[in-house]
Amino acid sequence: MVPRDVLEQISTDRQRYVEELSDFLLIPSVSTDPAHASDIRKAAHWILDKLTRLGFHTELHETERHPVVLAHRLPDPGLPTLLVYGHYDVQPPDPLDEWVTPPFSPSIRDGYIYARGATDNKGQCLTYFQALEAILAVNPELPINIKVLVEGEEEIGSPSLRRFLMGHLDQLKADVIAISDGSQFAAGIPAITYGLRGLCYLQVDVQGPRFDLHSGSFGGLVANPVQVLAEMLAQLKNEDGTVAIPGFYDNVRELEPRERQEMGELPLDENDLKHYLGVDELIGEGDYLPVERRTARPTLDINGIWGGFSGEGAKTIIPAKAGAKVSMRLVPDQTASAIVELFRNWVDSIALPGVKVQIRDLHGSDPVLIDRDQPAIQAAVKAIESGFGNTPLFIREGGSIPIVGFFKELLGCESILLMGWGCPDDGAHSPNERFSLEDFHRGIRAAAALFYELEHSLGI
Ligand code: BES
Ligand code: MN
Repeated sequence: MVPRDVLEQISTDRQRYVEELSDFLLIPSVSTDPAHASDIRKAAHWILDKLTRLGFHTELHETERHPVVLAHRLPDPGLPTLLVYGHYDVQPPDPLDEWVTPPFSPSIRDGYIYARGATDNKGQCLTYFQALEAILAVNPELPINIKVLVEGEEEIGSPSLRRFLMGHLDQLKADVIAISDGSQFAAGIPAITYGLRGLCYLQVDVQGPRFDLHSGSFGGLVANPVQVLAEMLAQLKNEDGTVAIPGFYDNVRELEPRERQEMGELPLDENDLKHYLGVDELIGEGDYLPVERRTARPTLDINGIWGGFSGEGAKTIIPAKAGAKVSMRLVPDQTASAIVELFRNWVDSIALPGVKVQIRDLHGSDPVLIDRDQPAIQAAVKAIESGFGNTPLFIREGGSIPIVGFFKELLGCESILLMGWGCPDDGAHSPNERFSLEDFHRGIRAAAALFYELEHSLGI
């Protein structure tokens, strides 16, 4: 159990923790945009400084893209070791005109802090460090060994992290890994996530004539890349919305009866969801519940499409090129590498004459499932009960965290605790992203409790 004086310390410093979060959120650490390279460094150093002040041994490691922050404080080799993971990078903030207050000027309204990265992942990540600070304010030492890895490439698929982990296996070895980079099932209904979807992200480029042509002079002779792209994209899905790529579902593992039963019991109101999303209908596989479709079934989405003239008025051309970004969410036992191949084969087989099609693999990550029957999960249940005052549900999430697969594969660590402190309507990746200050506070309490629960459940 978490000592009372630690909880008191967390309450006493509650306001100051929020001020620090606000300071962290000022940094526009957008990982995909080279214009923010110096902000990325600034955010890495912000974490580094915070952990150095907490008496951690800290290191900044360069990678091909963005730096990784490693830190540790290991009071006793006989104690269990927890590795805390988070990411300091954020998604781009556009469309800017939809933000009520600017994305990198954190603003507090109605008990929420609004800013890009508030929930994903700066706010959630910081809960662990504020919990450590509270513990060290009232105790000379931590109850367990803590290692920390905070990266800056998560939102671009963690391209450097596999290699980075391979080079630092000993340094990162841990009994348990804790990650808070998802959400509760709903506000006030905390959850432990035991499944994440994988991702396969591709760019399709279609090249037609050398330059944009007069459609009167050349129309009827030349294949139109926008038309060809549209026809190809249309053939990625069947009429019922399932994915048409041959072999796509071959390795999809069916949900277990216990999971289907649990998912059926999750309190999700379809009408509330439609209202939140602003749509009249939910679509998708009729044989599966919305919760199942959102977290445990594979999908294909066109993220963006371009080509030709889309300005004011009219322009009569045959465009020279067109393109699209296509991503697929994967579930066990699909793998990103196999799905890319299936995609390429399908596009080759439906190719039309007169254009060149190029498919680029931008990034991928494999889906993961975590074994729920292990002692660390029980520690997480108790920690969440202590921090949030409610027993967590077990859920799968639809999003992806590439490093989780690497942790399993390379560190051989199966004990990965995914405990989201945010809410599904926090607006991660959307305008007006926010994090409830109450959830921030509860997250800090739960993180503190986790350190003590792990000491008890795994300690000697
Ligand atoms: N925090 C999310 C992952 C997430 C989303 C977990 C929803 C649980 C529920 C993470 O920062 C993220 O957005 N990841 C990307 C990964 C991708 C770029 C490889 C994603 O899922 O799109
Ligand atoms: Mn995230």
